[in-house]
Order: sequence, then structure tokens, then C-alpha cells
Amino acid sequence: MLHVAVTGASGRMGRAFLAQIEEYDDVGTLAATTVSSEMSEKESSDCLDQICGEQAPDVLVDFSSPEATIAYAAWAAKRNVPMVIGTTGFTLTQLDQLAEILHPVPALLSPNMSLMMNLAWRMMANATMVLANDTIDVEIIEKHHRDKRNAPSSTALKMAQIVAEKRGWSLAQALRHNARWGMIGSRPEKEIAIASVRGGSLISEHSIIFAGLGESLEITQRSQSLEPFAKGALRASRWIIKQPPGVYDMLDMLGLSEVLY
Ligand SMILES: NC(=O)c1ccc[n+]([C@@H]2O[C@H](COP(=O)([O-])OP(=O)(O)OC[C@H]3O[C@@H](n4cnc5c(N)ncnc54)[C@H](OP(=O)(O)O)[C@@H]3O)[C@@H](O)[C@H]2O)c1
Repeated sequence: MLHVAVTGASGRMGRAFLAQIEEYDDVGTLAATTVSSEMSEKESSDCLDQICGEQAPDVLVDFSSPEATIAYAAWAAKRNVPMVIGTTGFTLTQLDQLAEILHPVPALLSPNMSLMMNLAWRMMANATMVLANDTIDVEIIEKHHRDKRNAPSSTALKMAQIVAEKRGWSLAQALRHNARWGMIGSRPEKEIAIASVRGGSLISEHSIIFAGLGESLEITQRSQSLEPFAKGALRASRWIIKQPPGVYDMLDMLGLSEVLY
């Protein structure tokens, strides 16, 4: 039996993950539904202690907010509990902080737990390599529901990072966040632009366009429900508990890291 604790359990993803667990007899929940954004870091940690009691969960799955995740990671490291983190929107400093905190335990951190999105990342890396010698402009479009807190999405940033690394560009210099407006002139060659669309109940859609002269290639992944992320998080939970300490992502789990980088 896999005993899972969930943080951010009252949120959209937390609920989708709990529903996913319900489908399996060999997974049980030590739920952390009472932990909320109203609580301080200490209160959250005490609450997790109270809920889990003596029995530490086999894995802690987190879909909350960057600040909360850092507090939960400290709890997981203290209790020696492997962690799966689906929360997005971390700054680079917060990512470094997480890696430092999680050093003693196995942890899987991925801004997108969908199998197809991870496959799409690989396809994007391949396309960037194959198209390296041509003049190809890269544009990224991401679409999400009206309540998404961060923009651009961490998934879109990873898409840009893959292209920048394969092209040997500095991501910070090549990235363009804003929509274009006014007399902007020709597009610079060394640019990766991300457009963020927010509206209604859209779940998640990511497209990359490789625009050449006379032809273009577009790779799109669409999620029509939260189920692909929940499924991925459960698969990650089963995998991470068998790994030695270290910070991993879904690409490691799927054996796609080496082909990607
Ligand atoms: N990796 C993936 O595949 C994937 C897929 C979809 C979404 N996500 C990410 O998962 C995260 C959650 O998304 P969501 O749509 O479920 O958001 P949501 O509906 O807003 O839920 C967020 C949850 O986190 C809790 N929370 C927020 N701030 C907190 C804090 N400071 N301390 C304790 N708890 C806190 C909320 O508790 P309250 O209800 O008390 O505020 C709520 O339970 C986001 O970062 C999102 O981008 C990742």
C-alpha cells in the first residue's frame, strides 16, 4: 500500500489528484486537506505532523504555491519523506533553495506532469537540433484558465529553455515576454517570444511554432482536463520512492533526459 500525503489538497489539482488515487486499491491517502494558505509555515508543519502522526507517509505530493512548497519541503526533508512537487511559478532563487532543502530525500519536481507534454518537450528539442542550420524563428503560445496565478507558465519557460540551450543562447537575453504592439519593426533573429493567453475554464495548451521561410512547423499539447497531470503525479509518486536522494524531473522518470540535453 502506498500512503500518500497531499498538500494543496483543497485546490483544483489537489482535488484531481485525490480523485485519481480513489481509482486504485493499492494507494491510500494520509490527506493534508486542513493545511491552508491561512497558516504560517510553523503552523503548516505542525499540522502535517498532527495529521500524519507517528506514521510518516511514503510520499508527499504537493500542488500548492511556491512559498508553501518550500515550507512543506523542509517538513519532508526533516521527516525523511520523498516528495513529488507539481507546484509551478518558482523563481530561480526558490528553485535553488528547494534543491538545497531537499538534498537528503528523493524529490521529483516538474512544472508539467502530463506524459504528452514531456514527450512534446523531447520533440521540441529534436526539432531545434534538426532545424539548427536554417533561419527559423521560434514563437511560443500558452493558454490557461482565468485563475492561473503566474505568467508565462513554467511549462512555456521550459520550452524556451530547451530551445535556448540547443541554440547556445542565453535564455535571459533571448526571451521576450510581452505581446508586440505598435511600430516594432522586423523581428530580431535571436529571440524566443512567449505569448500568454488567460481566459474562462481553459485547462492548458502549449504550442511552439518554428517559423521558417516558406514553411513552418507547430507542436501543440492540449490538456482537456486535469487528469493527465494527476495521473503523472501518481506515476511519479510510485517511481520516486524507489530512487536514491536527489532532485529529479518527469524526464528522468521517463528516461528522456539524456536524449533531451
Ligand atoms: N505540474 C503540473 O503538471 C501542474 C498542473 C496543473 C497545475 N499545476 C500547478 O499546481 C499549483 C496548484 O494549482 P491549482 O490549480 O490546484 O491551484 P489552486 O486551485 O489555487 O489550489 C492551490 C492550493 O494550494 C493551497 N495554498 C496556496 N497557497 C498556500 C500557502 N501559502 N500555504 C498553504 N497552502 C497554500 C490552497 O489552499 P487554500 O485553498 O487555503 O488557499 C489550495 O489548496 C499551481 O502552481 C499550478 O500552476 C501544476
